[in-house]
Amino acid sequence: MAETEPPEATDALLELSDVTAGYGNTTVVHDVDLGVGEGEIACLVGPNGSGKSTVMKSIYGFADVFEGTISFNGEEVTHRTPQDSLRSGVSYVLQSSSVFPDMSVHENLLMGGYVFGDDDRAARRAEELYDEFPRLDERREQAAGMLSGGERRLLELARGLVVEPKLMLLDEPSIGLEPTYIEQVFDRIRQLNELGTTILLVEQNAEKGLSIADRGYVLASGEIKFAGTGTELLEDEEVGRLYLGG
Ligand SMILES: Nc1ncnc2c1ncn2[C@@H]1O[C@H](COP(=O)(O)OP(=O)(O)OP(=O)(O)O)[C@@H](O)[C@H]1O
Ligand SMILES: [Mg+2]
Repeated sequence: MAETEPPEATDALLELSDVTAGYGNTTVVHDVDLGVGEGEIACLVGPNGSGKSTVMKSIYGFADVFEGTISFNGEEVTHRTPQDSLRSGVSYVLQSSSVFPDMSVHENLLMGGYVFGDDDRAARRAEELYDEFPRLDERREQAAGMLSGGERRLLELARGLVVEPKLMLLDEPSIGLEPTYIEQVFDRIRQLNELGTTILLVEQNAEKGLSIADRGYVLASGEIKFAGTGTELLEDEEVGRLYLGG
């Protein structure tokens, strides 16, 4: 079994120690230890319902952390609200659709910068992002509800970039996309990472996700079962058999 320790708190940008989390009276994930080093891509994989999104939500502040601690950028952030997370440089692209369908692409994009409290700054960032996402530029006045699934995913990704996050939580960025779109989304993730953004990715396409990851975690039944480099997990026979369908 592949086993490497998560990075020490001193060099991890994000670190979860013994995190037990869920919603209200329901515990979903138990004793999760997970670290993401500064500048890394980490990928969390596992079966449906294993608690991957709950781990993301516990980091961002959408789920309840019952036990354990979460630190980000050297500070304890265990019980932060989503707004505090965003302000501190964490952005979260949700698994489920989160565009405002009746608002235009442009208005949706500006929402990504609402924590600035400065419309001009958000507008400047939006223009920079249109240069990177010409497909969105062409559709800026269109209602977001009219976008295709792939375009919507690009909008959600772009909206998460308005704040220039230190850490991006990406929950199944390639969900529902056809292969050419998946490639585009993965290329974008790699580029973002090369430009300095640390990334924690949840990916249904486990092989694809682990192949771009410095570090990988397998979550099953709410517990981390395997941790290692992306390559170690891809090459691990047990991980392959149980979780990669191989
Ligand atoms: N808001 C909520 N309140 C109560 N239970 C929830 C809530 N959200 C999720 N759950 C439960 O937590 C469990 C794990 O869900 P979660 O979304 O974290 O899994 P996942 O690994 O992301 O699954 P998938 O691969 O299908 O996205 C599920 O049993 C789900 O029903
Ligand atoms: Mg999920």
